[in-house]
Amino acid sequence: MKRLVVLISGEGSNLQALIEACQQGKIAARIAAVISHRADAYGLTRVAAADIEAKSLNPADFAGREAFDLALSALIDRYRPEAIVLAGYMRILSTAFVARYAGRMLNVHPSLLPRYPGLHTHRQALANGDAEHGTSVHFVTDELDGGPVVLQARVPVFAGDDEQILAQRVKAQEHAIYPLVVGWLLAGRLTLRDNVAWLDGAPLPAAGYAAD
Ligand code: GRF
Repeated sequence: MKRLVVLISGEGSNLQALIEACQQGKIAARIAAVISHRADAYGLTRVAAADIEAKSLNPADFAGREAFDLALSALIDRYRPEAIVLAGYMRILSTAFVARYAGRMLNVHPSLLPRYPGLHTHRQALANGDAEHGTSVHFVTDELDGGPVVLQARVPVFAGDDEQILAQRVKAQEHAIYPLVVGWLLAGRLTLRDNVAWLDGAPLPAAGYAAD
């Protein structure tokens, strides 16, 4: 059985979706470990019932980003994962860390990339009066939220929405598309070549796969 390591910072609702997808056989893998840089991340408590190790590493115990990421990769590598899944992991990654897992590491970002990389995506969509917002699953590269997009999901923005409502609407889509993409990666259907995402032997367009 293939193995995943999931990195989180907070609530872990995407982690929950991944746990369930593995339990239901929608992803042919098991989550070997969930790791956070915050010992109090709520998501770490979600693994209690499942056969998953929950670990945390405190950045304050390390000299800097490189040292932390080196310890993190040593911990990750103990589980020999085929894929590393960032699920609300809110830390900048060092270049060496990204390079180590090139083509094996995915992220989900709450916007229709390349719109709104970085923080406060829902706030920006509302402030700009966007009629549409969404989420993107992408390969992780050295460019923050800039790696090749694999799949996006769109949601409408309604009059009267606030950040919280919009975030929940976006997350509902993430819970559907993230396990799907992780499954593609583990099945060998999805690869990263020369900074382009390929699915089933064909390069994906800039906005990722879109079923008509
Ligand atoms: C998600 O909206 C994801 O796009 C972003 O952080 C949020 C994490 O939510 N990167 P959760 O911790 O999975 O509930």
